[in-house]
Amino acid sequence: MKFEKRILCIGAGFVGGPTAAMIACKCPRYRVTVVDTNKEKIAQWNSAALPVYEPGLDEIVKEARGRNLFFDTDIPGGIRENDVIFVCVNTPTKSFGAGAGMAADLQYWEKTARQILEHARSPKIVVEKSTFPVKTALAMERILNSRNDGVRFDVLSNPEFLAEGTAVRDMEVPDRVLIGSRDSAEGYRARDVLVEIYANWVPREKILTSNIWSSELAKLAANLFLAQRVSTINAVSAVCEKTEADVTEVARIVGMDGRIGPRFLNASIGFGGSCFKKDILNLVYLCRHEGLAEVADYFEAVVRINEYQKERFVLNMLEAMFNTLAGKRVCLFGFAFKANTSDTRESPAIYVAQRLLEEKAEVVVTDPRALENAKTDLKGLAGKVSYVKDPYKAASGCQAIAVMTEWDLYRGLDYGRIFKRMVKPAFIFDGRNILDHELCHEVGFNVYPVGKPGLTHFA
Ligand SMILES: NC(=O)c1ccc[n+]([C@@H]2O[C@H](COP(=O)([O-])OP(=O)(O)OC[C@H]3O[C@@H](n4cnc5c(N)ncnc54)[C@H](O)[C@@H]3O)[C@@H](O)[C@H]2O)c1
Repeated sequence: MKFEKRILCIGAGFVGGPTAAMIACKCPRYRVTVVDTNKEKIAQWNSAALPVYEPGLDEIVKEARGRNLFFDTDIPGGIRENDVIFVCVNTPTKSFGAGAGMAADLQYWEKTARQILEHARSPKIVVEKSTFPVKTALAMERILNSRNDGVRFDVLSNPEFLAEGTAVRDMEVPDRVLIGSRDSAEGYRARDVLVEIYANWVPREKILTSNIWSSELAKLAANLFLAQRVSTINAVSAVCEKTEADVTEVARIVGMDGRIGPRFLNASIGFGGSCFKKDILNLVYLCRHEGLAEVADYFEAVVRINEYQKERFVLNMLEAMFNTLAGKRVCLFGFAFKANTSDTRESPAIYVAQRLLEEKAEVVVTDPRALENAKTDLKGLAGKVSYVKDPYKAASGCQAIAVMTEWDLYRGLDYGRIFKRMVKPAFIFDGRNILDHELCHEVGFNVYPVGKPGLTHFA
């Protein structure tokens, strides 16, 4: 079959795989290939057990795989044979050298840019889908145009706004698609090719075009705004705990203001995931570099409050459990950084587990999807950790439950039954404020939510 367009995604992770699957599903006339250096991951994408858990993903992959969606390890071949190349590689925080712990580690995209340069024999539109520091497109253009052999490369910025757990829906019905291009005739021509791809299923008015630097910065700014709301309500939750105010009531009242809105106002143990912290630190690094010290400090406080909230949670546990956790079994309900994903990157549960082990507690981890990742995250830590899929069995013999992830599953459990099998006095620390606290208290638990008075059986 002759395909109208040939599209390549480099990087078969949480973004590359689902993005390619969505385009292939919505555009049967296009051939979409996903390549990755990780052979095992590509084998998983070609199997029944995908490397990424996302509601609805299995279905769209099944529909398109083998028809117009292909997963492959041949990166040079992919570059040669495709015209539009989405770069979806990881951009983690740098862990070494200048900017360690702050700046983005750009080795993966640079390697990709050099591979594109080496293998391209015909014009390519290179799309930055990963989240990059502002001005990465300039560096990408410089590398791609360093050979001067007449092959044309146009670089576009098309940041991904999907949220894990709702990725398929977010891509199918996005709030907006953003395409940044150079302000030149060639830039507009390349931009229009990408607009045409998305217009297969996204209404035109939701496809925003902008200058390329605004596009790169807007992705970082969007994550800053989202994370800032979480840190603000979490800071308010600390005040609530000292004043007997209830953070859920405060958030409801604040959120009904039309200028503020109700979303992202749930107090919790803090945000996790591979993006918020790294993208904010990336902005902080840029600001420091550009001499904007006050702005850098302001942005960095969002991350600092998040760290503070996790530590505050652990210290609250310690205090409530008579200032010692040594030898006590604590069950973590959930390990994923949020519900409906198997992803545990930067999950607050990692920090809590580490701290509990430092306090010499025994940790039992339960999660419906993330146990394998949890094992990798906690590997090598000193102390006793066990992994149990069934939450009833996991909590049995423990003195405390700490809710780390807002899985629906945990709302519907029989807490009377769980309480009976636990060591007394038994505690629940609800790091996501999802349980029926009155009910848990009634069956016997001492309950400590975030940002509201605890319900205890102590005089
Ligand atoms: N995960 C999210 O929710 C999300 C949302 C929006 C944007 N983003 C951004 O998208 C980018 C990718 O994130 P992710 O979560 O998909 O990362 P990921 O780690 O899940 O996937 C990245 C993949 O790229 C592959 N890779 C790295 N270098 C390569 C190379 N030179 N050639 C081929 N493959 C290579 C890796 O093997 C890996 O499979 C990041 O910049 C991230 O900030 C992520």
